[in-house]
Amino acid sequence: MTPERLDSLAAIERACWDELARAMREQGHAWRVMTLATADAGRADARAVVVREVDPAARALRFYTDARSPKVQQLRVSPEGLLLAWSPALGWQLRMPVRLALEPDADVLAAHWAGVESTGATHDYRAAQPPGTPVAHHAPERGEQAHFALVRAEVLALDWLELHPLGHRRARFEGGASSWLTP
Ligand SMILES: Cc1cc2nc3c(=O)[nH]c(=O)nc-3n(C[C@H](O)[C@H](O)[C@H](O)COP(=O)(O)O)c2cc1C
Repeated sequence: MTPERLDSLAAIERACWDELARAMREQGHAWRVMTLATADAGRADARAVVVREVDPAARALRFYTDARSPKVQQLRVSPEGLLLAWSPALGWQLRMPVRLALEPDADVLAAHWAGVESTGATHDYRAAQPPGTPVAHHAPERGEQAHFALVRAEVLALDWLELHPLGHRRARFEGGASSWLTP
């Protein structure tokens, strides 16, 4: 079913954040998994990540990763990244330029790690070797030590594209300003 069309820029921006927040509550929501693009010494890199937290007031998203992973090395050098999300149900694409940082607040980090421990999924962060290390066997080797990292992505702008049978629409929201764009 084609969702009802919103007609004001303010309503669309609100709906984007509402939808991002909804994705955190709904298991199958398409925006739970996004593509994170980063720069790797002048080359593009991208991978899927699961969004773990959306903070509409702070305009920030958080995801988990291995602290030794290439993406963490990349964001230390170039904090500018881009999160890309597409929802077939909404017909909406979101491109979000982000500023990436490892979570500086130890309490926030500890709270998220406690959450991971409560689900028993700590093995994702206990690989013996850093992600991307060539290995002799396909079975992952686990180490004792956890390498959990919480990454905060501050959303600098929303570039919204709606695919619709009555005509596609696109808008950009940045620094309190908003405008329609040619799709
Ligand atoms: C659906 C899906 C979800 C993923 N979620 C995460 C995630 O939340 N965090 C993460 O570090 N890697 C996640 N991955 C694996 C990454 O896409 C990537 O392969 C891995 O993190 C290594 O990336 P890097 O070499 O760019 O650091 C996910 C992969 C898929 C297919």
